[in-house]
Amino acid sequence: MKHKEMVYMTPMPVRIWHWLNAFGIVTLCATGLQIRFPDYINIFGAYRAAIRLHNTAGVVVSVSYLLWLIYYLAVARSLIKLYVPTVEDLKSGIFRQAYYYFLAYFFGKPNPHHSTPDSKFNPMQKAAYLVIMLVLLPLVVLSGGLLMYIAPLRELLLLLGGIKMLVGTHFLLSCCFTAFLFVHIYLATLGHTPLAHFKPMWNGWEEETVEDGNPDPDKQITASTK
Ligand code: HEM
Repeated sequence: MKHKEMVYMTPMPVRIWHWLNAFGIVTLCATGLQIRFPDYINIFGAYRAAIRLHNTAGVVVSVSYLLWLIYYLAVARSLIKLYVPTVEDLKSGIFRQAYYYFLAYFFGKPNPHHSTPDSKFNPMQKAAYLVIMLVLLPLVVLSGGLLMYIAPLRELLLLLGGIKMLVGTHFLLSCCFTAFLFVHIYLATLGHTPLAHFKPMWNGWEEETVEDGNPDPDKQITASTK
């Protein structure tokens, strides 16, 4: 027999970071579009207003990223456990998960990954979140930061290949973020209900189906419905 349990999956600091970051990144993408294509796109009125909002959102995303890093490294100390794929994840887990998303899901087969607070992410999520959080986000923050201080950092920018190179890299990185956003939101709707993965990002709790007589001591449970 199986029963449902409520599991505390996403601590409050992570939820606050996530929605601040999501709001910041969406603002950066929208203002960035106007800054890059001012002749075609005008969402925020004056060009200078778009730049000011872009810079402000950039600072918000950078500071919240730093807090996310400190939280996972020094407070929760679970960055490696949650975000770094294991050898088994890379050898077979990623392919099993991709097979589920691309095919098995549409035939009603169960998700091969069972989330617990200690293993929140499936192998594909681990790989994607690791690249986004430890490679792309730091790079976009760094390239954006350099672009905010072009005049004083002129010498350094020339060493890095010049402003055009930096602007091009920053733009390519933002395209990766836009692509990630669409895939991320689509995959997040593939829980047992379309909102199943959104609820724990809002209130922290996720409903899990568990085999009877198989309690997981790592889980913090408040409610159980047979
Ligand atoms: C409107 C935009 C966004 C929505 C609606 C959204 C939605 C979600 C949802 C439902 C989850 C929980 C399910 C899951 O783990 O996949 C999640 C987790 C996550 N999202 Fe997003 N997201 C958005 C933007 C972003 C952005 C821009 C980033 C990174 C740059 C991001 C990075 C993450 C990470 C790292 C997690 C796991 C958090 C943790 O538990 O440690 N999300 N998101």
